[in-house]
Amino acid sequence: MSLTIDYQNKTAVIIGGTSGINRGVAELFARHGARVAVASRSEDKVEDTVTALKALGAEAMGFAADVRDQQAIEEGLAQVQSAFGDFDVLVSGAAGNFPATVNGMSSNAFRSVLEIDLLGTFHVMKAGFPYLKKPGASVINISAPQAYLPMEAQAHVCSAKAGVDMITRTLSLEWGREGVRINSVVPGPIDGTEGMDRLAPTEAVKQRVVDSVPIGRLGTKDDIGHACLFLGSELSSYISGVVLAVDGAWSQGGCGEMSNFLGQFARQMENS
Ligand code: NAP
Ligand code: COA
Repeated sequence: MSLTIDYQNKTAVIIGGTSGINRGVAELFARHGARVAVASRSEDKVEDTVTALKALGAEAMGFAADVRDQQAIEEGLAQVQSAFGDFDVLVSGAAGNFPATVNGMSSNAFRSVLEIDLLGTFHVMKAGFPYLKKPGASVINISAPQAYLPMEAQAHVCSAKAGVDMITRTLSLEWGREGVRINSVVPGPIDGTEGMDRLAPTEAVKQRVVDSVPIGRLGTKDDIGHACLFLGSELSSYISGVVLAVDGAWSQGGCGEMSNFLGQFARQMENS
């Protein structure tokens, strides 16, 4: 049997899909024929993304919601289902990050990241499940290397994303019975993104990160989008419960460089 990646007549929903990596993912699904829905907090970012997706020839819609607000996510996903029908692909990628040591962050700072990344993923999973095509839907959670590698000044993100990967693995058991697959995609350092700008704020630091990636370059949004196209398609129909690093082997050791830098950087900021 020969399989191809074709998303004609399929619906992909990308939560947190209005900037950076996730917007790149949304655009790639649009380029491959999918109907695409995006969501994030900012009405302007949603509108801008929907316009761009339509310009790529896709049927597109969006809604503004904070993933911390369960009701807003439920209402938004219900609107998408009314317009586009049940979902073939659901991507959950909203996240927050800033470098801060545990000694330098408040309870609310820790809670904010936990609530966006982890509770937000729970809300998206719970509200999205009734609308997933059964059998056949594919769910993708966007994680981070911090999920399985401790990194200085990232205790909030490490804790939250570790939880995200455990939701992925747990739901692969619960939802596999219903014909729904779920995997995590773990981006490495991705060029031209908010995440990279926050963790590698100067060209010098960025170069240190490049040097620490065995494949020898930063990742691109398309690198992550291609992994999502694969995981959303029949090409991966026997893959579920996997945490897939798309990082040029960075997480095999090189990201210790980032840990050292972030620890120094955060302590300097906190002591100044
Ligand atoms: P980004 O551009 O800041 O994208 C975050 C997206 O989530 C935006 O669309 C943002 O839009 C939305 N968002 C943030 N908080 C939200 C909330 N409370 N409710 C709903 N939507 C919310 O970041 P990025 O760097 O591309 O990162 C995207 C994903 O990749 C994240 O899951 C991140 O952890 C992961 N990742 C990134 C890197 C990297 O190198 N950049 C590396 C590893 C993992 P609004 O502002 O409109 O809400
Ligand atoms: N160091 C320490 N604490 C910080 C911080 C930093 N650099 N940045 C924010 N905080 C703290 C705030 O002081 C606040 O704690 P407090 O109430 O005790 O003062 C807490 O975090 C919440 O901040 P707030 O700005 O009120 O939260 P928010 O819900 O509006 O925004 C963030 C959430 C902080 C994660 C914000 O950075 C965001 O929206 N990020 C989304 C984009 C992003 O991070 N992209 C990269 C993805 S990898």
